[in-house]
Amino acid sequence: MPAETNSSKKTIIITGGNSGLGYACARNMAKAHKNIHVILACRHAAKANKAVHSLIKATNNNNITSLELDLSSLESVRDFVTRFSSSGFPPLYALVCNAGLIMIDKTRYTKDGFESTFGVNHLGHFLLANMLLEKMTHSGRIVFVSSGTHDPANKTIVAVPVYESARLLAYPKKMGQNKNMLTVGQRRYSTSKLCNIYCTYELAERIQQQTDKNITVNAFDPGQMPGTGFSRTFPLFMRFFTKYINYISVLFRPNVNTPNKSGKALASLIINPEFNEITGKYFEGTREIRSSELSYNRENRKNLWKTSVELSKLNKTETLLNLD
Ligand SMILES: NC(=O)c1ccc[n+]([C@@H]2O[C@H](COP(=O)([O-])OP(=O)(O)OC[C@H]3O[C@@H](n4cnc5c(N)ncnc54)[C@H](OP(=O)(O)O)[C@@H]3O)[C@@H](O)[C@H]2O)c1
Repeated sequence: MPAETNSSKKTIIITGGNSGLGYACARNMAKAHKNIHVILACRHAAKANKAVHSLIKATNNNNITSLELDLSSLESVRDFVTRFSSSGFPPLYALVCNAGLIMIDKTRYTKDGFESTFGVNHLGHFLLANMLLEKMTHSGRIVFVSSGTHDPANKTIVAVPVYESARLLAYPKKMGQNKNMLTVGQRRYSTSKLCNIYCTYELAERIQQQTDKNITVNAFDPGQMPGTGFSRTFPLFMRFFTKYINYISVLFRPNVNTPNKSGKALASLIINPEFNEITGKYFEGTREIRSSELSYNRENRKNLWKTSVELSKLNKTETLLNLD
């Protein structure tokens, strides 16, 4: 944690902190410093409250609360920022964009009509991060949770990303009857995780060039984590495989981790002074590595930024950054 903020109270918002990686990260952050106030930004109040109670019990830190946020609704994102701003929390030090989903059973759409994987994993977080910049302390941190599946070189079992344009991701072409939803859903997921990296690099650069704040922005790959709620839309046999059989591979396969191990690494990127000055980078755990070749494509990055501004109807009173 930066020296000047070490003893003062500060707030960290984590999206989807009620389960899996987000929960483990929240626990590690709240345990590390009692002056940290953790806000779980979650879509279901009952699940969020349950997580708050068990986190307080596990950490002895009473400064853990929840605020409702549904990333599949731009109105909910705007409403979240308004409620956060008027609730008198300590200064906002960090934002962890962790919530995410994969849909391999059918195509779903957000409240605003965008394909859900793109809408939740990228667009909701894009709007949230932009709107919170002004509320953040001078030195702060933002981390986007991405995934090694964004990189074809990793040869994961997930279909590799295809980026044609952000508009096509938001409004995909209607699929023929025989299209394999398993592959389509995986590809939408890995592409949304590529979008998280484009967004990280663009936001980091814009903050440096267009503001006087020292807010760092980095992307994080937690590795494969059996045992989270992530596989909920998978067929039964795949859910069984990812939840139990895969557990064994934690012992011997590289970059397969328990949620707690990855949660600890993610918490470290947020609170460890070692990362004070690092921005616009990609981390596997706490190790800085290069992201995929495609993730350095500036044309795609610009296309994503411009289209995201248009789709989210972000206006210049809502962000510190230039919109063009
Ligand atoms: N598991 C893996 O192997 C793996 C690998 C690489 C990267 N990741 C990334 O890690 C992150 C966390 O995933 P996880 O594995 O911990 O899965 P998880 O247990 O399913 O956690 C996902 C969280 O996102 C929340 N969420 C989903 N849709 C939301 C929405 N519309 N608004 C607000 N919150 C929403 C979920 O809330 P509900 O509980 O209400 O559904 C849940 O809290 C994701 O970004 C994922 O892409 C996971």
